[in-house]
This record gives sequence, C-alpha cells and structure tokens, in this order.
Amino acid sequence: MSERGAETRVPASAFLAACRRQSVAHRPIWIMRQAGRYLPEYRELRSKVDFETLTRTPELAAEVTLQPLRRFELDAAILFSDIMTPLQGMGVGLTFEPAPVVRVPVRTRAQIEALPTLEPARDVPFVLETIRLVRRSVPRAAPLIGFAGAPFTLLCYLVCGRPSKEFAPARTFLFAQPQEAERLLMRLADAMAAYLTAQAAAGAQALMLFESWAGLLGVREYTRFALPAVRHTLAALKPLGVPLIYYLNQGSALLRTVAGLEVDVVGVDWRSPLSEVRALLGPDKAVQGNLDPAALFAPPEELTRAAAGVLTEAGNAPGHIFNLGHGIWPDTDPDAVARLVDFVHEHP
Ligand code: CP3
Repeated sequence: MSERGAETRVPASAFLAACRRQSVAHRPIWIMRQAGRYLPEYRELRSKVDFETLTRTPELAAEVTLQPLRRFELDAAILFSDIMTPLQGMGVGLTFEPAPVVRVPVRTRAQIEALPTLEPARDVPFVLETIRLVRRSVPRAAPLIGFAGAPFTLLCYLVCGRPSKEFAPARTFLFAQPQEAERLLMRLADAMAAYLTAQAAAGAQALMLFESWAGLLGVREYTRFALPAVRHTLAALKPLGVPLIYYLNQGSALLRTVAGLEVDVVGVDWRSPLSEVRALLGPDKAVQGNLDPAALFAPPEELTRAAAGVLTEAGNAPGHIFNLGHGIWPDTDPDAVARLVDFVHEHP
C-alpha cells in the first residue's frame, strides 16, 4: 500500500468523518478559542508568560493546545497560535494588547511590495514544531486543526492597524485603492497557502481559514475582493487532501456566494439557523456551528434547550460539526462547556 493510503487508515475520527460528510457514531464537537482565558490552567500559565512567548515556545504552545482536550472529551484540537503570527514572521511589527495592534499600518503599494515572501520553516519554525509536539501527545488521537486568517480578515488588521467595529480604513481602502487592495490580498493569499501547506506537512490533519470580518462587506465587495483571494488559497491547499474549513463570521448574506467555493466545511455564526445555512450551501458542504457563545451563561436546562435547537436545525444528514458561532467568551464557566460537550455526545 502506498504511504498516502497507509496514512488515511488512522483511527476513525468523528470530526474528520463529519468534515467529509460521512456518517458518524457520535456528533463531533470542538469549540472556537477552546484554548484560552476561560480555563484556569491557561490563566495560570499566562500569569507567568506573555501571549507572544506562549505562541513562540513550542512546549508551551503545545501544552496550551492540549489543555482543553485533557479537561473535556473534545473531538478535535486546534493549534494554539494567532492569525497574526505568520505576519509577524514576515516582519510586520505588532503587539498583542490583547488584540493585535500593527505598529505601522500597510497602505501603500511600496509597503505591500516590501512585504517579504513567507517561508514557514525559516520564519515561523515554532508553529511547525508545536504541531509536531501536539501530534505526539494529543489525547484520544484527536485530530489537530491548523489554521490561518483568511486574506481579507488579515487585510483588515494590516490596513487599520487595530481592531475596530467598522474597520473604516480597511473598507475605505477597497474603494479608494482597489488595485493595491487586490495586490495585498493576493500576497496574503500566497503567504497563507504556503503557511497552511507547511502546517499540513508538519502534521495538521484539517486546515481552517478564519474570515472573521466577512460581515463588513456587501456581496459585491466580498465577491470582488475577499472571494478571489480565499479561492486562491483554497486551490493551493486542495491537493493536500486534508479537509478544508472556511469560517465565515456574520456572513449570512454571503452564503449563496460561498456555496461556489471548493471547501469541505463552512463554519457559521449563530445568526442563521443551520437548516437555512445548509439549504443555501447545498448538499456538497459540511457545516460547523453555531451555538451563540452567550448560551453557555444560561442555567443548565436552558443551555441544553439551546444546544438541542442547534442539533434540530442541523438535521440528521451527515456533515455537521458542533461548535459555537464564534469564540468562547473569557468569563465562561468551564463546567458549562463540560455539560455542552456531554450533551452533544449523548445526542447523535
Ligand atoms: O481557538 C483556539 O483556541 C486557538 C487559538 C487562537 C487564538 N486566536 C488565540 C488567542 C485562534 C484560532 C485565534 C484566531 C484569531 N485571532 C482570530 C480568528 C477567530 C475569531 O475570533 O474571529 C482573530 C480575529 C484573532 C485576532 C485576535 N487575537 C484578537 C481579536 C485577540 C484578542 C481578543 C481575544 O479574543 O482574546 C487576540 C489575542 C488572542 N489570540 C488571545 C488568544 C488566547 C488572548 C491573548 C491573551 O491571553 O491575552
């Protein structure tokens, strides 16, 4: 048997099966931002080490990646890093406060051309080493998800310099300097393709692109700017043969457009019911989501009702991965997460 064939005979994973729309014995669940500040063990480590050092020290990043899997029966691990980490590797000066702040926003053709090409083994070796360490010690052989920011979401941070509600400078950039915007997006699309390819080579078993700020765009601008860039990255990743996930935040208006993307799984926020999401995406996409992170603050029976609502909307067709609609909030009670994971596993 070829090496590739041997590799596909890994222990059956409900998460990987659901990504491929195969039937599963239990419904897989993992949680966006599952490694992070709601966990006392993360806060304990973080009180001694700053966020950047955590992400750049493979032993620590691997430890933080594994913390939620030791506590809960999660069906996948996600690499502990940040969407801005590879840009830092390309020499973009930034700090985490805790959200990323870019020292000198990128807005001119000269700045865009001056961005060096990302060479993952040279520029972010610690990310690849973290992946290797996690693969060696992950509980229950849970698959590891590698990730990157989608090009438009990275553009938002690079052009604005800091997160904001409207990201006005980024949206203005698209209209006022469309050629520069397209060039920056394609440079980011190439960099993230190289980055995710290296993550898969190091052992990541699924790859996810975070389009966290998709909801800023109308369908026209999304189709002109964000979509070709993400398509470019996805096309480069397809030959890797690992499931590809595209998370679209506040993208209800964009689902018809996203249906045309060659991606295995579309992750969505909590605004649209999954029945509607599935109808718009069509039968050849799996879906991931979409409990409101606020539901974890409800009394146990209300949380159960909300989770049951997500399961009902998702339906019984294969290809649903349970998740929140966006990252878990820092003040969430870990016991609520434990109850949610158990409930989802008990209701296939
Ligand atoms: O999901 C995980 O557990 C893996 C780790 C992960 C982090 N950031 C760790 C982190 C992942 C997948 C990300 C992705 C990320 N980072 C996104 C896309 C997902 C999303 O939420 O939409 C975005 C937009 C960022 C940018 C970013 N980095 C923000 C807005 C912040 C601060 C606010 C926040 O949510 O914590 C960060 C810093 C950051 N990234 C922290 C963590 C655990 C907090 C740092 C700290 O401990 O002080």
